[in-house]
Amino acid sequence: MDFFAAVTYLLVGTSSVSGLIIPRPAMEATNLPEQIHLSWSGNPTEMYVTWATPSPSTVTSVKFGLDAANLTSTATGTSTVFVDGAKAHKVRYIHRVTLVNLVPATRYYYSCGSDAGWATVYTFRSIQAGTEWSPRLLVYGDMGSVNARSLQEMTKEVQADRYDLVLHVGDFAYDMDNSNGDVGDDFLRALEPLAAIIPYVTVVGNHEQKYNFSHYRNRFTCPGNDEGMFYSINVGPLHLTVMSTEFYFFLRYGVTQIYNQYYWLAKDLTAAAENADNGWIFVAGHRPMYCSNPDMVDCNPRGNIDYAVIDSVWVQKTQPGRPVWYRGSKQTGRLLHSDRKSNARTEG
Ligand SMILES: [Fe+2]
Repeated sequence: MDFFAAVTYLLVGTSSVSGLIIPRPAMEATNLPEQIHLSWSGNPTEMYVTWATPSPSTVTSVKFGLDAANLTSTATGTSTVFVDGAKAHKVRYIHRVTLVNLVPATRYYYSCGSDAGWATVYTFRSIQAGTEWSPRLLVYGDMGSVNARSLQEMTKEVQADRYDLVLHVGDFAYDMDNSNGDVGDDFLRALEPLAAIIPYVTVVGNHEQKYNFSHYRNRFTCPGNDEGMFYSINVGPLHLTVMSTEFYFFLRYGVTQIYNQYYWLAKDLTAAAENADNGWIFVAGHRPMYCSNPDMVDCNPRGNIDYAVIDSVWVQKTQPGRPVWYRGSKQTGRLLHSDRKSNARTEG
């Protein structure tokens, strides 16, 4: 099983370069579901569906089934009110439905409902069960609403069913809170053709920090009770642990979450290392775990406490093996990897 051969790492648009401008449709025109995206609990018989409406809706439902013309099942969910932190306090309504009792590795069709009607029918393939297969992940970070150069090509690849899930490793929209949150709306509308047809698994980045990461916490749906800041899922033989590297950099939001994540991480990684079904353990965080240049913004050692936990779990459970760290290169768009102890690095 060659997991990393199946991983594509892409570096996409930056916040500072102008180029492709995504048009902004009028959000107030209807109360139909918009910004539709999928995510995943880690259970192959489930799928999360999340969307927004500009006004309250008495309906938060998803019709789904095996035939696009005959959506025979209905699941209902919950709706939350999300108030932006800026002075205007713009309100959005976020809807979440968990589809259950899915047959793994099966193509489904679905449509989200609000009191204004039903959205476009989208399709997805449920995740395969078991560990005897190689998951294909599309992994990237740092994608804005403006200059999202890779989005069109990535959407085509996902539509061609080349991947099992997407992992967006922090920094969305630049920034989702800008213009009273309208930039976040633009971003999620542009993302919908991709994120509505494949689980869009997320990691928090520094550009989500405004109002204690409230746009990230409210707009995405992740497993666990920590609003997507840290959690883990098993996909095939891969244990994917998601962590916040940002807790160390935004101490104004408190330090309790640092301790919570530290103890959770030790427990999660220990259990993962003891689980013989896990062929790979993959820890994803927004900031790199080592520096290949003198950039102290992204490579600040404040995050080392969690890296020390990762090291110690590996040493304790898999000695003499050592963790291998991978870092995306903005220069080449390729993965850099390193044995952190020997500090040897190669690009590949
Ligand atoms: Fe960042």
